[in-house]
Parts: sequence; C-alpha cells; structure tokens
Amino acid sequence: MKVKVLLLVLPIMVFAILMCLSKMKWRGCCQYVTPNCDPWSPSKCNNKLIGARAVGSIGSPDDETGHGTHVASTAGGTRVYNAGVLGQARGVAVGMAPRAHLAMYKICTANKDHKNECTDHDILGGIDQAINDGVDVLSLSIDTPKDHMEEDSVVKATFAGLKKGILASACAGNGGMFPSRLVNDVPWILTVGASSMDRVVKATVKLGNGMELEGQSAYQPSSFSSSTMLELIYPGEIVKNDFNRACKSASLNFFDLKGKIVVCETWLTNDIAKSEAVKKHGGAAMILLSQSWDGFTTFSEAHVIPTAHLNHVDSLKVVSYFRTEANPTTTIIFGGTKEGVRRSPAVGSFSSRGSSLRNGGILKPDIIGPGVDILAAWNKQVGPDPSGSDDSAFNFAHGCSMATPMLAGIIALLKSTHTDWSPAMIKSAIMTTAHTTDRTGQPIADEKSNTYDKASFFAMGAGHVDPTRANDPGLVYNTTLEDYFGYLCSLKQLSDFSIGIITRQRAFHCADYVKIEPEQLNYPSISVSMNNALVKKITRTVINVGQSNSVYKVEVDDPEGVSLKVDPESLTFSQMYEEKSFTVTFNAKIPHPFKGEYSKGQLVWKSNGLKEYAVRSPISVQF
Ligand SMILES: *[C@@H]1O[C@H](CO)[C@@H](O)[C@H](O)[C@H]1NC(C)=O
Repeated sequence: MKVKVLLLVLPIMVFAILMCLSKMKWRGCCQYVTPNCDPWSPSKCNNKLIGARAVGSIGSPDDETGHGTHVASTAGGTRVYNAGVLGQARGVAVGMAPRAHLAMYKICTANKDHKNECTDHDILGGIDQAINDGVDVLSLSIDTPKDHMEEDSVVKATFAGLKKGILASACAGNGGMFPSRLVNDVPWILTVGASSMDRVVKATVKLGNGMELEGQSAYQPSSFSSSTMLELIYPGEIVKNDFNRACKSASLNFFDLKGKIVVCETWLTNDIAKSEAVKKHGGAAMILLSQSWDGFTTFSEAHVIPTAHLNHVDSLKVVSYFRTEANPTTTIIFGGTKEGVRRSPAVGSFSSRGSSLRNGGILKPDIIGPGVDILAAWNKQVGPDPSGSDDSAFNFAHGCSMATPMLAGIIALLKSTHTDWSPAMIKSAIMTTAHTTDRTGQPIADEKSNTYDKASFFAMGAGHVDPTRANDPGLVYNTTLEDYFGYLCSLKQLSDFSIGIITRQRAFHCADYVKIEPEQLNYPSISVSMNNALVKKITRTVINVGQSNSVYKVEVDDPEGVSLKVDPESLTFSQMYEEKSFTVTFNAKIPHPFKGEYSKGQLVWKSNGLKEYAVRSPISVQF
C-alpha cells in the first residue's frame, strides 16, 4: 500500500500530509494560480509529488525559502545517494516514509527577511483543501500561537481531519527559551518536540592561551589556515549593545574587521545572516556564541565564512578570554563530520515546553523526534561549497518543523501497516513505546540546561519516538469523537458557541454530551491536578493489539507526594481488540509538594508472553 504525503509551506513552518491509500482516492492536483486545477507550469508533479497548491492569494506553489522542500523530503523523500551539505555528512538521504506520495500546500509567503508569513485564513483554507483532496496524514510545521482555541485555524482544521480519520503531526513550537510557549496542543494532534542527534560537524576554536573549544559549522574550507593565529574582535564587548552583540550588518560599519576573527552572539538575526555580515565587512572568520537559554544546542550550518558555533558554557570562556587578554588571538581548526560524539538524543534547547496553558492540563508535547541539524532537500544550492562538488541541493535545518515531518512519516508507515487503527490508536502506539533513555543508557537530557539535566516531561512528553516499537505496541488507548466533544465541553473557557466554531458544528449543545474532564480523557499520558483533594481517581481503557492471549501486569513509579493504586493490577486478554479498563487512584501524601508544583512518575503495563511488551504512560501530578 502506498502512502501519500501532503505538504504545506511555511518557514517558521510548513505542513505536510501523508496518506496510505492508493492514488485512486486522490482528488488533488498541481495547481498554479486559479482555483480550477490549472497546471503548475510546466507540471512539476510526478508520482512522488502528486499534488501542489498555492492557497488563497499566494501566487505559486514554488518554495521560496527551502523550508517546504526540507520538510517534504523529510516526511516522504525517496532515496538519494551521496547526499551532503558542503561536502559534510555524506551518505544516503531518505525520508521517513520513502514510498509515500506527497502533496504540498503553500499557505505562507516569504517576507523580505526570508521568514514565512501565514494568515489564519490561508492555514484553514490549505488544510481544508488537503483534507478534501484526500490526504491520509497531515504534517504541520506551523507555529502560530493563539491564546484561544476558537481563533486557532490549526485546531479547527485538524478537528475536521480527525472526523475523517486523519492524524496530524504538528510542531510543539520553537519557543523553548520561554516557559509554556507551546502551540498545537489539543489532544487530537500529535504534538512534536525536537531532539538532537549524535552527529557533529566539528569546528574547534583555539584561543591564544591554548584553550580549545569544540563548536560546529558545515562550511569548512581547506584554504583557511588553522596554524595562523588571527586577531579576535568582539564588537558587542567593545561597544555594548544588542546590535553589536548580534553582528547586525549596519552596526558592523563602526569596526575594522579586516582579516580578523569576529565574535557574534545568537541574538536578533539568524546565524547565516551574521556570517554574511561579517564577510561583507572583511572579517576572516566568525565565532558564534550561544546565550544561556541555548544551552548545549549548536548547529552545523552552511555559513559563508569559516565559523565555529559554540555552546553556552564554552561561549563564556571566549567572553572571559576576550575581557582579560590585552591582545586576544584565535583560530579555528576544522574537524569534519563525526558521528557518535554528541550525547543523544537530547531535547533541543529551542524546543517548546509545557505545561500547556489552554488544554485543561493534558501533558504536552506528546513526543520528541529528530529536529537538530537535519539533512534534507533544499530549494537551491547553499554554499559556497569548498569541495566544488555539484551536490544536489541539500541543507541542514533545525526546529520543530524538522521533527514534525519525521513523525508524520512514521504515522504514514503505521497507517499503512495497521489500516484499521484510528488516529488515537496510532498516536497511542507512538507515545507508549517511546524511550526515555539516550544511547548511553542515561535518562534523555535537556540541552537547555547548561549542566545536561534530565529532561522533564514538559520538554519531552512520553519520550523519544521509536518507530519499530510503535509498530507493535501491545496495547493502545483509543479515543472516540464523542470523547473529544465531551472533553471540549469540560473546558471552562469554552462556551457551546466556541465549541461550535472549533468543531464547525452549528447549534452545538454540550447538553447532548457526557462531559469528560481532561484527566479522564482516554489519553496515553496521564496528568492529574490534585487541587487540594486528598484522593483522585481516573479510569483508562486499553485495547489489545498485541497477542490474542496475553497477560499484562502493572508497574508504577509513584510521583513524589502521592501513592498510586492501580485496580486491577493485572489485565488478561483472550482475543485481539479486546478492551479492558482499569482505575488509578492518587492518594495525596503528607507532606506533599507546594500548591502549583508538579511531580512526575509513570505507569507501565508489562507482558512477558511470546513477545515482551511495555506500554508506558508518563504521569504528571499538579498539586
Ligand atoms: C477506536 O475509536 C474509533 C472512533 O474514534 C472507532 O471507530 C474504532 O472502532 C475504535 N477502535 C477499536 C478497535 O475499538
């Protein structure tokens, strides 16, 4: 069965959709300007890209920024041999669901700063069109924060998708530096955060005092001499202001950068714009320093001059060297591509974190997937390429935009192997099989912490996606449309009228539905608010999708401040698709954490039959 992927285009984000039906169901087209499927000239569609549309007043489906191309190839790109970026990270590039068909919907346009701008109207129009065209999966690399659900086009459009059995993978956001700046957090969306990988493209800074600091850059010209120490200049320390720190091009006019290595900070402008500004002013190279909230997350980007991007801890060493040394000097030593040298996966510092402020306390993000230095197709050559090779166009990019199509591709794969699974079952399979330890066996770390602290559930949700395990989860948590209506009705901030807008049902009445509090929704993760109560009890129901005859036993790690009792403690199944319910009782302990604080634990159903399953739900308790 082939899977179709649809993509829409935006830079802070894009959106893709995958499908698993045959192309027969497909009603989309390659459309240029007019609404009646006039060909995109000359037709750029083929058996891979089966649909492309420009939505609303957007003129053409062409990708102006590279973002849409990158996310599309990540979701469903076919195998490309010898791919690389400026000669680095060479190898086979392939999307998550390489046999998927793709359709792309351009819902944003590039503004003069090369950032995408998207209107709510076009977002809604684009996703509606995609659903109407017959896509199977939505990949929404979109980050358009809205305080109210009823104003949020993604909420409305994905609800319509849900009614047709379409699961959306969507960005948690790139607002990691702020607390609770999380988007796309409704329970019917798979909300995706970004993790880093074990690969670095090494660029080591050597300071005049002999200290060596390991950074990254994709641009590694052999013509750059690492044996010559050059003068180090730091505009943001010489005249302290934000523009100088950021190396805004105009502010660099006041400095003589010729032949020097220039220190710039991650701030205000994007990283490539900084290396372009330094180049324009005659600088020989750039050292890019990270802010405290950037933590350990560095990028191997396609810079235009020799560059080394340092993590925050190492950045501070450059600052103190510059401040204390009368004649500071430095050089950069390029080390090429190295794998297995970065602690991974770890949560990218920029990845948005919960708690979610508008979904009634449901734990978000749901999952993390690779979203740092992702190599995928690009809309044009980047460079200069020091190897002079004519690589087809690939680039590294980072963001929840890159993690989202990874998960969309995985959804497409699961959908093609489990054609009868509902969106909630697919989501459950992905979440309950996620892993919480990294390649070294330690707990997944948070790169935002400058000491590699263990990532909290608000950073990584259920954990890091494991596609193979997700394909055979043992048990799944299902949710019906009625459940979501009942859930919406329990949210105090929503009136019947607002729910009517979200679900696009006229004359909607909560009186027609059984209210389901957020903590009672049959969700694969568990969040409970004690809110001064001494006892709380929730119910969950699982469906057996593993072995027909199987016995599961519960294992619980109590969150601090409560003791948990699960009833029953064992579930026995004798056939496939059999359902079993259980309750979890939360008994508050004295003393327990202060009001408003969170603690966390987990509940795992384990079976040791012919196959071993572990079906894990993270538990978050708010006091
Ligand atoms: C899961 O829920 C959907 C409704 O959302 C329903 O159609 C489907 O039958 C359920 N699956 C199982 C196995 O119960």
